[in-house]
Amino acid sequence: MQTEIHTMKAFHKLKKSCKAYLVTATFGLAYVMMALAGLVATSHAESEAEIADHLKDNSCVSCHLNEVDDDNTAMTEHFLKGIHARRGVSCSDCHGGNPKAEDEDEAMDEDAGFIGAPDREEIPKFCAKCHSDPNYIRGFNPNLPTDQYAKYMISGHGKRLLKSNDDKVAVCTSCHGVHGILPPNDPKSPVYVSNIPGTCSSCHSDSTYMSGRHIPVDQLDEYKTSVHGIALLENGDRGAPSCTGCHGSHDARRPEPSGVANTCAQCHNFIREMFVASPHKAAFDEENISECEVCHGNHAIQKVTDDMLVSEDKSVCGECHDSDSKGWKVATDMSAHIVALRNQIDSITLIVDSAREIGMDAEDAIYILKEARNELVKSRALVHTFKTEDVAEVTKAGTEKVQEAGVAGRGLMEQFHFRKRGFLLSLAVILLLSVLLTLKIRSLSGSSKIEE
Ligand code: HEC
Ligand code: HEC
Ligand code: HEC
Ligand code: HEC
Ligand code: HEC
Ligand code: HEC
Ligand code: HEC
Ligand code: HEC
Ligand code: HEC
Repeated sequence: MQTEIHTMKAFHKLKKSCKAYLVTATFGLAYVMMALAGLVATSHAESEAEIADHLKDNSCVSCHLNEVDDDNTAMTEHFLKGIHARRGVSCSDCHGGNPKAEDEDEAMDEDAGFIGAPDREEIPKFCAKCHSDPNYIRGFNPNLPTDQYAKYMISGHGKRLLKSNDDKVAVCTSCHGVHGILPPNDPKSPVYVSNIPGTCSSCHSDSTYMSGRHIPVDQLDEYKTSVHGIALLENGDRGAPSCTGCHGSHDARRPEPSGVANTCAQCHNFIREMFVASPHKAAFDEENISECEVCHGNHAIQKVTDDMLVSEDKSVCGECHDSDSKGWKVATDMSAHIVALRNQIDSITLIVDSAREIGMDAEDAIYILKEARNELVKSRALVHTFKTEDVAEVTKAGTEKVQEAGVAGRGLMEQFHFRKRGFLLSLAVILLLSVLLTLKIRSLSGSSKIEE
């Protein structure tokens, strides 16, 4: 009994001290975690505080944040979230003035270098003061290009601003905003890749803003229906061009008819090479025909079809070549090769698919068919040499693959039928045997009855 009590006491003691340990450990852990969180919070707060500290003695920020009006408060709050404030670039770095003076007139004194807000046409130079100065920019970010102003000045926008004082063209702030500018890789930036079509179109789709100019305002509407627009805006494919993918951003301009292939070649280089070596290059240059565009369009480029070669209403070749010309003959021949290969692939695909559906191992045939389809894709790109031989060579390789796949597919079907016949035969044999067996049993039981 005594020992029992002792054990109980010892047990309770142990339980208590365990509890104490647990409590200490839990609190300890919580303490460490809180300390860590505190540390993170402190360092986070510190980076914010650094900016606040930097800007606290700054009369420009404090007065415009608190003392002017709601618009200025909102503008300054917005500014504080942008890349310039985060890098410690302040109001006076752009506008000049004395950020130490509390008095309004003293702070914004021309003698203290105050230049106020720039006029619209002054903005590119205003931003370029820093952004075209490699020594200055390198101190912040050695990888940031410093060519924006130089490129801007040769763009359709910059040239009009410089030559004809057209102040409705885009300036730096039209695309980037003013206070609260973000880097292009921030999804909230107006120049983040999928926001670009909307940013350009804020002017280019506005018929009132663009009135009096002989320029269409349908680029965005068309782009949204295009293979490129769908790829970027709906499928998030950042390899597809936004407006700047074809036009450039700072050097945005309308491509020359003879330069369109180069524009597209940023992504479709192989096709440009073929086109440039074809008889069309010189012929188009001579007549000022817009290279790829004449057959594919520009803002509303669609997925291609084989009908683009020869068909009643969709043939692009028929637009320029009469039915008795060499051009039309080549179109017809190329089309014949491509369509023949396509049809062969379709019919063998049916056979291979049905073999797979009835459970045959069709992996090999499927693989060979895939190779044949690659040849078909290649042949469609090769139309840009405008030589039947080039297309024929590839479709021939494709046809050989299809035939191989056809042999494999038919083989599978035959194997299946053979197995089915074998199965039926063995079924018949089993049936026959069991009939014979039943007869035998009956005859045996008949003879035993007679014996009784
Ligand atoms: C004590 C308050 C105060 C201080 C300090 C102050 N500002 Fe201002 N600022 C104002 C007010 C008020 C206006 C509007 C004046 C007006 O409407 O004419 C203004 C106007 C401006 C404008 C617009 C001028 C224009 O051309 O339209 C800019 C730019 C500006 N401030 C920048 C600065 C900068 C940079 C500093 C620091 C060097 C600074 N401010 C310091 C109160 C202040
Ligand atoms: C990166 C350069 C830059 C910095 C930094 C900057 N501004 Fe500006 N600010 C501009 C430009 C450019 C304009 C002209 C905008 C326009 O015309 O669309 C402008 C215009 C203004 C205006 C005129 C009204 C308006 O909103 O257009 C005021 C006021 C002003 N800034 C105050 C400030 C204050 C205060 C700060 C700091 C809190 C500041 N700016 C920081 C570039 C800058
Ligand atoms: C006083 C110098 C100065 C002026 C003027 C100036 N900037 Fe900047 N800008 C900077 C600095 C510094 C950075 C930060 C670079 C970095 O660290 O990446 C920056 C960053 C940027 C970035 C982000 C770049 C990136 O990818 O990180 C953009 C966009 C930008 N500025 C646009 C403008 C525009 C538009 C104007 C004119 C309205 C302008 N800047 C005026 C100094 C300036
Ligand atoms: C027509 C729209 C447009 C105009 C005008 C424009 N930008 Fe940009 N900017 C962009 C786009 C889009 C990007 C994103 C990267 C790219 O496509 O080049 C960018 C990127 C930048 C960057 C990041 C670094 C880089 O070059 O990629 C800086 C800095 C910059 N712009 C500064 C400026 C300055 C300074 C001006 C005026 C001289 C200006 N931008 C005018 C659209 C524009
Ligand atoms: C602030 C409004 C505005 C914005 C934003 C703008 N543009 Fe423009 N853009 C114009 C005006 C105005 C013209 C001159 C049109 C004319 O008179 O033919 C122009 C002309 C052009 C031209 C024809 C230039 C030439 O060489 O003939 C192209 C291409 C162009 N813009 C592309 C773009 C792209 C791409 C963007 C976005 C990255 C963009 N623009 C953003 C106003 C704008
Ligand atoms: C696939 C490449 C491509 C894309 C993407 C593209 N453009 Fe174009 N754009 C062209 C070509 C090529 C021309 C030349 C038209 C001509 O002169 O025949 C052109 C012409 C223009 C023009 C001159 C006026 C006109 O319509 O002919 C403007 C403005 C323009 N584009 C703006 C834009 C805008 C805004 C976007 C984005 C919504 C955009 N482009 C997207 C290739 C492209
Ligand atoms: C003379 C008319 C014509 C010209 C010029 C032309 N194409 Fe094509 N393109 C076609 C036809 C026709 C097809 C479709 C062939 C088929 O599917 O049977 C095609 C197919 C394509 C394809 C899809 C095939 C593939 O490889 O993905 C792309 C991409 C393409 N063209 C881009 C271009 C580019 C870029 C240029 C300028 C360098 C250009 N085209 C010039 C007529 C043309
Ligand atoms: C920035 C890269 C880029 C540029 C520049 C570009 N394209 Fe494309 N293009 C693509 C991508 C990516 C696709 C595939 C989109 C998809 O997934 O459907 C494509 C698809 C196409 C197709 C459809 C191909 C098919 O399989 O049916 C045609 C035609 C085409 N582009 C023509 C052009 C022409 C013409 C130009 C120049 C005026 C051009 N592209 C400029 C990237 C580009
Ligand atoms: C915009 C008008 C235009 C379109 C569209 C066009 N061609 Fe041509 N093509 C020409 C011109 C111009 C020449 C050079 C003059 C000539 O020989 O007829 C030419 C030459 C040719 C030649 C060389 C003819 C020879 O005598 O050596 C062939 C082949 C050809 N084109 C095939 C095609 C095919 C295939 C298509 C459709 C995919 C096509 N063309 C679409 C205008 C066009």
